[in-house]
Amino acid sequence: MSDGAAPLDGKVVLITGASSGIGAAAAGVFARQGARLVLCARREERLRALVGRLRGQGATASYVVADVSRAGDARALVEQAVARHGRLDAAFNNAGTAVEKRPLHLTDDDCYERVMATNARGVWNCLRHEIAAMLACGGGAIVNTSSVGGLLASSAAAPYIASKHAVIGLTKAAAVEYAAHGIRVNAIAPGLARSEMVDQWFTSHPGAQEQALRSAPQRRAADPEEVAEAAAWLCSDRASFVTGATLAVDGGRTAW
Ligand SMILES: NC(=O)c1ccc[n+]([C@@H]2O[C@H](COP(=O)([O-])OP(=O)(O)OC[C@H]3O[C@@H](n4cnc5c(N)ncnc54)[C@H](O)[C@@H]3O)[C@@H](O)[C@H]2O)c1
Repeated sequence: MSDGAAPLDGKVVLITGASSGIGAAAAGVFARQGARLVLCARREERLRALVGRLRGQGATASYVVADVSRAGDARALVEQAVARHGRLDAAFNNAGTAVEKRPLHLTDDDCYERVMATNARGVWNCLRHEIAAMLACGGGAIVNTSSVGGLLASSAAAPYIASKHAVIGLTKAAAVEYAAHGIRVNAIAPGLARSEMVDQWFTSHPGAQEQALRSAPQRRAADPEEVAEAAAWLCSDRASFVTGATLAVDGGRTAW
């Protein structure tokens, strides 16, 4: 399968949650591997600057401002990608939000709804339109961002844990249903990776960083590019027999 060509050469790839962290790192990694990118997030200034940098490096990239928790935004996002490039080959459904840590019985409905709306419903909203677009062009590959929290539970984060387990369920269901149509659907389960979400968490919770690093076998957080590399591989034809899988990109966290 490997012939020396850039693994994503010419592929039209949609990335959600591209304005920071893992999604922004993925934009760089995918672009270096030859992808033609449509980037999505809610913060237009961030997207404009990122697209400018990527174009300056010779990449083909554009953006769509969208909130993945809104079904209409997700539909328009996929329609825009197809309108611009005539097809959709891959998607990295990565947008996600964290939860304020709180015991389950003290967590209010709004918190649950907010986290599920982006992390689970957001993947659902994008997935259905991406699959429709990929069916129309003969196949494709989708990667959804779950989490170590989609494989294991931790205390005081029930909505996040539930949402990331849901991502794995959606991934498996779609993988099985569309395997015979040439569409692969996988998930990644990142461990601790440096990002805005994690920085905010560490800043607002003294001691959280030390605690997180103690439970990391490599005693470090990932560079977001290390996570993005896994997503790029799963989107490429090099992963042609991988579907329905959840790849832990966690420095050994779930093996511990
Ligand atoms: N960083 C980690 O340690 C870690 C670990 C496990 C899983 N994850 C997951 O990785 C993904 C990326 O997170 P990150 O760590 O890079 O954090 P981040 O906060 O830097 O990035 C999240 C991105 O998603 C976007 N986003 C959030 N809600 C959105 C919405 N409704 N519509 C569109 N865009 C939206 C944000 O604007 C941002 O671009 C998330 O799904 C997160 O749950 C991160």
